[in-house]
Amino acid sequence: MTTSSSSLSDVTGIIAVITGGGSGLGLFMTRALAANGAKRVYILGRRKNVLEKAVADIGTQNITPVQCDITDQDALKSAVSFIEKDAGYINLLVSNSGISGPSLKIEFTNTFHVNCTAVFYTTIAFLALLDAGNKDQTYQNGRSQVIATSSIGSFKRKITAGFAYGVSKEATTMMMKVLATYLVPYRIRTNVLCPGLFPTDLTTNLIHGTDPTVEGSFPLDQIPAERAGTPEDIRGPLLYLVSRAGAYCNGNCVLTDGGRLSVTPATY
Ligand SMILES: NC(=O)c1ccc[n+]([C@@H]2O[C@H](COP(=O)([O-])OP(=O)(O)OC[C@H]3O[C@@H](n4cnc5c(N)ncnc54)[C@H](OP(=O)(O)O)[C@@H]3O)[C@@H](O)[C@H]2O)c1
Repeated sequence: MTTSSSSLSDVTGIIAVITGGGSGLGLFMTRALAANGAKRVYILGRRKNVLEKAVADIGTQNITPVQCDITDQDALKSAVSFIEKDAGYINLLVSNSGISGPSLKIEFTNTFHVNCTAVFYTTIAFLALLDAGNKDQTYQNGRSQVIATSSIGSFKRKITAGFAYGVSKEATTMMMKVLATYLVPYRIRTNVLCPGLFPTDLTTNLIHGTDPTVEGSFPLDQIPAERAGTPEDIRGPLLYLVSRAGAYCNGNCVLTDGGRLSVTPATY
């Protein structure tokens, strides 16, 4: 029986793929897995220099950059075949890449393509390696899993990013629940992370002031925690879902938003 907090949150030996793992929230997650004994973390993105900088900055030997545009199914196939040859299986796919889309401009197609369609493409592309991860059984802290970084935008009725952003994230959140049901016979779990506001490249237009993560930066009626999210606020929920602690979660949606959805018109 596992009772110690260190065993409950242990991710030693995991093999993970993180799309958008070279910047922002993806980089916070890459660092968390790499620093806690992951066997390997493959980070995918279009910009090779961003991926290589992430590997150099983190400085551990267990991260591999893989240049890949997740909207391109051939590029995904090449990434999968490289990882198949390199590792043979994965235990975790974090489908984290996303774009904010043009603010308030009426453009839906590309935002949906990256935030929703490509999450589907990525999930389908990695299913065989996730299945191989279950069969391998080296990682004992839960069955193979896909986690999508969606957003509290899935539930908000007030628009802060563009029209298409929230709606594309709502589609992704629902799609991940549908996939949780669809993938039951394959013994592959899906869960969703729904972050609130975190300072990253994606949110530079939404955040003003010096350090938005300092308590007091936001009024209670905007974010009850009175601050934006920190790396710990995404790493904690990720480690929960990925370790023994969250091994019974399937079809879940984990909000990490400092209470923001509680003070905004929302459908949650
Ligand atoms: N920051 C927040 O407050 C917040 C809140 C809720 C949800 N989120 C979600 O969190 C996720 C990460 O965003 P972030 O805030 O960390 O911003 P970010 O630093 O801009 O990260 C976005 C990542 O997605 C990758 N990406 C974009 N298009 C891609 C494509 N076609 N193929 C492969 N990778 C692609 C980017 O890499 P390349 O450009 O090199 O491809 C980048 O690494 C997104 O899904 C976002 O919607 C963020």
